[in-house]
Amino acid sequence: MPPTDADNSSREKTLLINQLAVVLRSAEVHHVKNIAVAKAVNRFVDQVTVFVREEGNFVLELRGDFFFVNDFRIRYSSDIMVNFDYLMRLFRKIEVGTLIIQPGVGINDIIALTEAFITAPALNPFETVFQKVSHISSITIDHLKNIATEDLLDARKMVKKSYFNAVSFTRGIMSKIQEGEKISLKKSKRMIVSLVDRLIDHEQMLVGMTSIKNYDEYTYHHCVNVSILAVALGQRLGLSMKQLTELGMVALFHDLGKLEIPGNILNKREALTDEEWQVIRKHPVAGVRLILKMKHPDNISIRSAIVAFEHHMCFNNTGYPKVRKPLPQDLFTKIVSIADQYDAMTSARVYSRTPMSPDKALNLMAKQGGTQLDPVLLQFFINMVGIYPIGTLVVLDSREIGLVYETNPASIGRPRILIIADEKGSEMPAAAFDLSEKNAAGEYKKNIIHTLDAAKWNINIADYLLEG
Ligand SMILES: [Fe+2]
Ligand SMILES: [Fe+2]
Repeated sequence: MPPTDADNSSREKTLLINQLAVVLRSAEVHHVKNIAVAKAVNRFVDQVTVFVREEGNFVLELRGDFFFVNDFRIRYSSDIMVNFDYLMRLFRKIEVGTLIIQPGVGINDIIALTEAFITAPALNPFETVFQKVSHISSITIDHLKNIATEDLLDARKMVKKSYFNAVSFTRGIMSKIQEGEKISLKKSKRMIVSLVDRLIDHEQMLVGMTSIKNYDEYTYHHCVNVSILAVALGQRLGLSMKQLTELGMVALFHDLGKLEIPGNILNKREALTDEEWQVIRKHPVAGVRLILKMKHPDNISIRSAIVAFEHHMCFNNTGYPKVRKPLPQDLFTKIVSIADQYDAMTSARVYSRTPMSPDKALNLMAKQGGTQLDPVLLQFFINMVGIYPIGTLVVLDSREIGLVYETNPASIGRPRILIIADEKGSEMPAAAFDLSEKNAAGEYKKNIIHTLDAAKWNINIADYLLEG
């Protein structure tokens, strides 16, 4: 499909914000008068001049977790995520909510703006920046408004609803398949499309939902979690909407064959016997059979069957089912395998394993790059979930205990956390804290010392993440 005018205009706005972030980031690394900064400034001035000629002015606003350009909400996309995140943090830090650029803006104006932004003091940052830019006639700034909470709460509610809808839909479809009913993929597709939509706008929140593991119905949650994690990874790889939808469907059905495993084996708490393992190992082939029985088989069913068959074969073909001449794994299989392993390792109910904390699971998976898992995709996955994934409990140098609720793409070791226990270890009302925050001396205010195992500490992560 050729890009429409709307696509082009949205891209133009996205690129403008991106370029502004490039200017500010490079000025923070180098000096404002550095050649790299000068080049970035020139480019931004060229772009913004063209933009204001067409649109009258350039109004960049930060509302809640989103940037708006001339009232048009800018979508997160993987290629500019780090710059977006940087700009958002900077705006919040210096308490700037609106930046307006008018026709006639010149290179010196942007240099002065850049200087004001990156040298803003910790005390009264907005007032200082405001004073520094007040003489520039083409630039106006306004204070950040505190409307974030309500918007975010609404978004969180929506994400929660989508997640639980997906789970109950999955429960419905699986019980129909179990009863031998012939189902069609159309409805699943609709459900996945809405999940993909949510994921594009609220990746962190939706991925966060997958970290809540204390459900009774592991199987349905697992299917939905793997689907969400796979699509999130696919998004990072730059897959199109159509491909993401296909990937989401394929991932949802990866374990369909488990419907044929007797409950007493599937839910067994103790270690499985060799015979029981034999039964478990049949689920990829059973999955293929069940998928191909669906109504109106199409490309998606075929790809689902391939992934169901391959998802335990491993990158180096050491897994199961064993085949005489293994073919290279499908890209979707490689993605699903990573999402599957991560969700399974961090869940309590798989093959009587105890759940692993997210960071431990990731550490273990990192060692499987090139053997069980595709090393390149795994690296993308680790970058996505961060070294402290959502749901990780951390101990800070202040002795407080925090729970990671949002990762930070610009600095993966410094996520956003909820502080849930004070320095004495007593539980307290959750307070949000951004670990990339620095004090006036430029030092980080708080640091992570080590992680904790939520299961051992009897902390119910779901309580915090669901209530937001
Ligand atoms: Fe499986
Ligand atoms: Fe699985």
